[in-house]
Amino acid sequence: MRKKIVAGNWKMNKTLGEGEVLFQEICHKLEASDPGDVEVVVCSPFIHLGTLPGLVRGSIVKTGAQNCSSEESGAYTGEISAAMIKSSGAEYVIIGHSERRLYFGEKDEILTKKVSRALDNELKVIFCCGELLKDRENENHFRVVEEQLKNGLFNLSDKDMAMVTVAYEPVWAIGTGVTASSEQAQEMHHFIRSLLKNRYSGKIAEDTTILYGGSCNANNARELFSMDDVDGGLIGGASLKPDDFISIINSY
Ligand code: PGA
Repeated sequence: MRKKIVAGNWKMNKTLGEGEVLFQEICHKLEASDPGDVEVVVCSPFIHLGTLPGLVRGSIVKTGAQNCSSEESGAYTGEISAAMIKSSGAEYVIIGHSERRLYFGEKDEILTKKVSRALDNELKVIFCCGELLKDRENENHFRVVEEQLKNGLFNLSDKDMAMVTVAYEPVWAIGTGVTASSEQAQEMHHFIRSLLKNRYSGKIAEDTTILYGGSCNANNARELFSMDDVDGGLIGGASLKPDDFISIINSY
């Protein structure tokens, strides 16, 4: 049975103090509710990784980063390595988010290296893929997602692929308030699973968690999560609001 995951992506939000308050509120509210068998992850900015994992204690919330360096260590001013992230106690790292691809020029080649670094350091990878609006309008969305997965992930061994969660995030839905319909999400998730089956095996395809991301909120999560191939969400804006985030988690 594949894991259900709801992961928050705080992006570039929250100072150190604000992050602690938010995280503690999420943990407390979650303990008071019953999230069942959903794995809850908070992917914070790097500065929080020194404190949040220590606050987790008995809580079920896991922590993660939003990026890692493609290099192992050394003279790369401003970079954070996968080993550093691992040493914080974080378990996850997001790689290939569309904001990294678009604003920081991260191409498939660099993303492949990042995935390898993360897996070498026993971090679980949340690998993002998703098409631009023009790709969907031109009916190129399946081709774009296929290329991103082939180039970014499909060099991995079966064992490494088991450490990867895929997040389908149509770029036109991220932070726009326009969510993919549950049918659009299901169609793409089913397609992604069929690619995994062709490249790997039926078992890996069935066991891989595929998250939906892009304006997922407390109102639409239940419908999205009810689809067969949608195994949870990668949540941006709504993960900064504890009540909304908990309500999304409880939508399962
Ligand atoms: P959003 O962001 O929920 O604010 O649309 C999702 C993401 O970028 O991961």
